[in-house]
Formats: sequence, C-alpha cells, structure tokens
Amino acid sequence: EETLKIRASLLGWYDKNQRILPWRANSVRESEEREDAEARAYAVWVSEVMLQQTRVATVIRYYGRWMEKWPSIHHLAQASQEEVNEMWAGLGYYRRARYLLEGAKSVVQGGQFPRTVPDLRKVQGVGDYTAGAIASIAFKQAVPVVDGNVIRVIARLKAISSNPKESTTVKGFWKLAGQLVDPERPGDFNQALMELGSTLCTPSSPSCSSCPVSKRCQALSLSKTPNSGKEILV
Ligand code: ADE
Repeated sequence: EETLKIRASLLGWYDKNQRILPWRANSVRESEEREDAEARAYAVWVSEVMLQQTRVATVIRYYGRWMEKWPSIHHLAQASQEEVNEMWAGLGYYRRARYLLEGAKSVVQGGQFPRTVPDLRKVQGVGDYTAGAIASIAFKQAVPVVDGNVIRVIARLKAISSNPKESTTVKGFWKLAGQLVDPERPGDFNQALMELGSTLCTPSSPSCSSCPVSKRCQALSLSKTPNSGKEILV
C-alpha cells in the first residue's frame, strides 16, 4: 500500500543519508554509552528546543557546551537561571531557556520523565512539536512531529493546496503526519521527514531527482512546478 511504500523509501533513504549529529544515536558518544530512554529524552529536548530557532551548525556548538556543563536532566535541575542564560547567550528567545530549566526541575521533581504527548504537554514550555519529538524519538511512540519542513513535504506528496497559515490546515497536517508515521520506527521516520525537507525537498528548488519518494509525489506527478517557498503548498 502507498503509505507502506512511502515509509520504506523514506527510512531507507534516512538510513543511508542521515547526518551524524551529537544528539542522535548515530554519534560516537551516544552509541558508546548506550544511553537509556530518559537520557535520550533529555538530549532530544535540549536539541529540539535549540533547533527551533537556530541552524544545525550553530546548535552543534551550543549543544556540546550545554551537555558538558549539564550532562543529565538532574544536573540541569540544579542550575541557576543566570548560568542557563549565560549558556544560552546568542541563541535568543530566552524564554525557551527558562522553560528548559523550569521543565527540568519539574520533571526531576516528578520522579520520571513523562513519556506520552499529553503528559509531556503538561510540562511548561513543551508544545506539540517538542512533545512529539521527545515521545517519538526517545520513547518510540508512534506520534507525529510537524514543523514547516514536514508540512511542505507532505503538502507536495499529497498535492495539498490549502493555506498553511491557517490553523485548520496545520491541524490537517498533524492528522496526515499521524497516519503516515511508521509505528516501528517513529523517531527515525519523523526525523527523515524533517531531514528530507531541509536537504532535498527545499522550498524553492527541490532536488526531486534525488528524492526517495519522488515516484509517489503527487505534486511532481501533476507536473506542477514544485512549490515556491512562500506558497509552500502546491
Ligand atoms: N530539524 C529540527 N529537528 C530535527 C531533527 N531531529 N532531525 C532533522 N532535522 C531537524
């Protein structure tokens, strides 16, 4: 079936092409230490919050310094707001740093890392995106993660043309992404969608000839010019 083929193609591409990133299990540090789910959840949380506003290359440096200073959520929970702000300097949106610290304190207080999207959403500052990322990547739950890249990829795959600025449209993409996510490898699948959107399925000149799902891309087969960035949708 169509969904199964999309999953298989995307995951196959991701297995070969994913970037080696310090917060991924493919990095030397993590695979050597064989981190447990809670340690992964902390790493995903910190990295995804940083990635929400900053390019990957910059995040790698900040993430490395952060993890050296606070290697676990228990370390972070002991930090002061001043230390956290100092570490965050240059990333902007200090509210996110404050939420990370407050969130770390409340998770440590609660005794264990929340594992489901509804429980994660109860942590201050954790929205749908971060909750989905932690639940799928760290705890292997079959939940979607939707950001601008994912919206663009799915819009093209399914040739959806509705205004992505409208909240009902965005809700529709969460639903579609939830149907698409691979139940066996949800974290890899979600990251594959994000990575496809940021590397090949780019806004203005997508590399359709290298794309693992071009055969199933309805926008391409309608032979419409792939989306221009501003319109996102076909
Ligand atoms: N952009 C933000 N988070 C990402 C992730 N986990 N993988 C790929 N691209 C991303």
